[in-house]
Amino acid sequence: MSEKSGVAWANADWDSAATDERVEGLLAQMSLDEKIAFVTGDLNWNFGFYAEGVERLGIPNIQMADGPAGVRINKGDVHEGKATSLPAPIALAATWDPAQASAYGAVIGAECRATDHNVSLGPAVDIARVPIGGRTFESFGEDPHLQSEIGVALVRGIQEQGVQACAKHYAINNQEDHRSSVDAMIDERTMRELYLPPFEALIRDGGVASMMGSFNRVNGEFACENPRILRDILRDDFGFRGWIMSDYGANHSTAEAANAGLDQEQPNEGFWGGQLRAAVDDGRVPEAVIDEKVRNILRPMIGMGQLENPVGIADFAVDEHHAVAQAIAEDAMVLLRNDGILPLGGVGRVALIGPDVDAWSAQGGGSSQVRPTRGVSPAEGLRRALGDDVEILVEYGSDPVTPGALLPGADPVDSGFFRAPSGEVGLQAEYWANPSFEGDPLVSRIDGRIELLHGFHNFPGFNAASARYERLPTELNAQMSARYTGTLTVPVTGAYRFVITSLGSYTFELDGRVVTRSGMAEVVEHAAEAEAVIDLAADEVVAATDEPRPYGWGGDGGQPDVEIDEVVVRLQAGRAYRIRMSYAADHPSQGFLLGAKLRLGWVPPEGVLSPNAARAAEVAASADVAVVIARSYEAEADDRPSMQLPGGQNDLIRAVLAANPRTIVVLMTGAPVDITGWGTDPAALVQAWYPGQAQGDALARVLTGAVEPGGRLPLTLPVDLSQTPAREARTYPGIDGRVHYDEGVFVGYRGFDAHDLEPAYPFGHGLGYTTWEIEDLAVASSDGDDAGTATVTVRNTGSRSGSVVVQVYAGDVTAPVPMPPQQLAGFAKVRLEPGRSERVTVRIPRRAVSYFDVDAHSWTPATGPAEIRVGVSSRDIRVSGPLTF
Ligand code: BGC
Repeated sequence: MSEKSGVAWANADWDSAATDERVEGLLAQMSLDEKIAFVTGDLNWNFGFYAEGVERLGIPNIQMADGPAGVRINKGDVHEGKATSLPAPIALAATWDPAQASAYGAVIGAECRATDHNVSLGPAVDIARVPIGGRTFESFGEDPHLQSEIGVALVRGIQEQGVQACAKHYAINNQEDHRSSVDAMIDERTMRELYLPPFEALIRDGGVASMMGSFNRVNGEFACENPRILRDILRDDFGFRGWIMSDYGANHSTAEAANAGLDQEQPNEGFWGGQLRAAVDDGRVPEAVIDEKVRNILRPMIGMGQLENPVGIADFAVDEHHAVAQAIAEDAMVLLRNDGILPLGGVGRVALIGPDVDAWSAQGGGSSQVRPTRGVSPAEGLRRALGDDVEILVEYGSDPVTPGALLPGADPVDSGFFRAPSGEVGLQAEYWANPSFEGDPLVSRIDGRIELLHGFHNFPGFNAASARYERLPTELNAQMSARYTGTLTVPVTGAYRFVITSLGSYTFELDGRVVTRSGMAEVVEHAAEAEAVIDLAADEVVAATDEPRPYGWGGDGGQPDVEIDEVVVRLQAGRAYRIRMSYAADHPSQGFLLGAKLRLGWVPPEGVLSPNAARAAEVAASADVAVVIARSYEAEADDRPSMQLPGGQNDLIRAVLAANPRTIVVLMTGAPVDITGWGTDPAALVQAWYPGQAQGDALARVLTGAVEPGGRLPLTLPVDLSQTPAREARTYPGIDGRVHYDEGVFVGYRGFDAHDLEPAYPFGHGLGYTTWEIEDLAVASSDGDDAGTATVTVRNTGSRSGSVVVQVYAGDVTAPVPMPPQQLAGFAKVRLEPGRSERVTVRIPRRAVSYFDVDAHSWTPATGPAEIRVGVSSRDIRVSGPLTF
């Protein structure tokens, strides 16, 4: 018998009376200036994120490394900035295995220690509310119980290494769109039942040492100066005894934030530092408030032994950690469908197609990006797994995927339609580090596409573009200009709708016809030669369309929205049109953080296939089996504009499927993408997430059956956004700066179940290579924190060993508030040899059959009996029975 869920970890061992005594001893010796320095960040490029300790008292500096997908090292001279690039946190959640989470945490903790960091900025336990959320890949999905179980084990894994974990982003940070200003309008019950429990669990059961206050507002006030969030809930209700820093730039005040309960401002003095000292001096902030902050920071530091056992620079177990990354990636891959083609066998020729098949660059961008210690590409992994007798034909099928994929608009015009003046495929591209094409260009090269998204997304170490895309230098992040020249040749005569996404000014010239937006100086020069000047800003267009734009949301990161212009041009097949596009990132808002935004996209006539995709389809037709590995671009600071795979990859998949029905599609995405529009289903579909640096071996071993795909969905894959809170602007991305959580607790499967919606694939779904029986359910009631237990017999009825995730849902209870039809109460990952069975008991927390009563201000049991459903997904229930509680 095994008990695998609801494990009650002991509370934080760092929180003791003995620790408090030492805290008081040190605090008494600190000057006010030392205290202020200790609570104010100091962005220090030698150490990365930092706050100054007090050397004379033996209090170390706080040296933080970003997580949560590994250790992002800012200090270039430490291990060459390299650490193990683990599978994305969403992949970890897909293992449904707390043991994997503690292994993941142990790697992060050990690597933080060995790279001179005493705080790891992770995990992120923000509920995945909308599928296009930019940080879905950094979180553990849509269910608070799964988030909590994975998060608690991960935190303990990190902290057992003497490194503090940091639960972020507190609170109600569920979108990146206008992240630094959006106001999350949410009711108390929804907050308590859905969004806060993971933070609560990390505090109570994980003993998390630190937290990060989020950028957004909650019910009218910024999270970092919100006393309800920071004091009433965090301290009084959850009993948090560690410290809470602001997200980087999320603090907006001196006295308000200090008095509301924020403990540290990061990354440097914005409103604290000298300003906080002045506020203490003039009585706006009592010194006792500063003392409390210092206590909160010192308590875990001292309690975790960070004074006696400081971090430093040392070797870490590179190979062992790589193996952990591989094991988790294998255990995380979700086999969504399989007509029997997997595991792969008896093939002589495999077409391996996708923008990153010979790299290991598919990971999320932004602050979670890790520079891998080494890597195994899918091509290398498959070669190793299939052996020398199998021929592997590698074809990209698409231009590299870049941050530009985050721009709304149409798919970019593929490089294969362009020829540079030199005759090379693509366009001649020139880039200037000024907005007016002045002087010699800083960079002059051939570029495949016209697609730029600079600023934040192009910070060093933040850009997770395909490896073969050469990142443009940081000097081009702020105001800049660019010119692209060459020819465009199309294969079909017809009407081409050009869709130009931009922020700033541009001219787009096609054989003497010029389209322009805003008064760019260059236009004047061109206008003289042009047949016609079309000034979109002045509403003069050759041909435009009133059709609704199917391009998703235009908002981005709290910055001015881009413009999307459309011009329809009739082009003749085979004729080389002279093309010249000039662009200036000259909008007043464009600077270091917010840079160039430009894409030349289009909607060509029916039947126009990109040369990249056409070549891939030909190769696929010649092979026994085709494997297409598609990827998304996801990063903090922007949500994705839609659920579509970016950059023409949908067309690629459609073309390959048409060329060879024996096609396996692998999705390297951190969040749901639209998988319904390919015309026909692939023979097998694998959700591989961002699988980390060992991705090639992991994927190859899963495809060839050396191991089972162990993952199950930690979030529902919707058909489209209409099934989610992103169905209307009020609920996402918000109107007038406010996003209303009107759907209440009905997020993810709770919403699909309540509204009787059919998802593309349900929460908890995932296939393996063997079959399972779950039977003989015994439900027992208990007292205390658990309402009861569910015990079942799990039997591997297939012919090979494998794993199954036994999922226990509690449903059918009634309450004065609308209850979800069912909620995940517990789960157990069971691994068994063929023919073997095991009796498995899963605990059912009382909360799974309760609701948060906002009047009583407490969790209150619903009315039972509950129906306990045990199955292998939220929609594949095998046995059920009543629980009285
Ligand atoms: C992110 C945090 C991150 C911090 C430091 C912020 O932009 O939201 O998650 O820890 O930057 O890089």
